[in-house]
Amino acid sequence: MTELPWDDLRARAVEMTSRAYVPYSHYPVGAAALVDDGRIVTGCNVENAGYGVTLCAECGLVSDLVAGGGGRLVAFCCVNADGGIITPCGRCRQLLWEHGGASLRVLSPAGEVGMDALLPQAFGPESLDAVEGARGKQS
Ligand code: THU
Repeated sequence: MTELPWDDLRARAVEMTSRAYVPYSHYPVGAAALVDDGRIVTGCNVENAGYGVTLCAECGLVSDLVAGGGGRLVAFCCVNADGGIITPCGRCRQLLWEHGGASLRVLSPAGEVGMDALLPQAFGPESLDAVEGARGKQS
């Protein structure tokens, strides 16, 4: 397997921290990921006066992925304002799972890990498929 471009991804994630809209937390986050067609998609967090409506950097990244033609995420990282690697929040692990699944490689503070290590026993599209009548299946 070819080496994953962690240095590039990390640099793109750091770049994205400068675009973050964080008037409330003052905690910019930048995210970048490699897509299976070779694209790099990125995102930054976008906060809101209604705090709970805040969009994490991963939300922007997934929008970039889908709006740019879709595909599967292969390698992902996100960083804080110091350029330090952080792990995605719980909700964003679910978001990443949908578009990368177990084989998505993630750069964590402890090094490269699989998405299945960050979200063990995940609920995903195949969980819906397992039930007759769910996800538009006819019974
Ligand atoms: N944040 C992200 O963008 N991604 C994460 O995975 C963790 C948290 C943002 C949300 C909020 O704008 C700020 O970091 C502080 O929680």
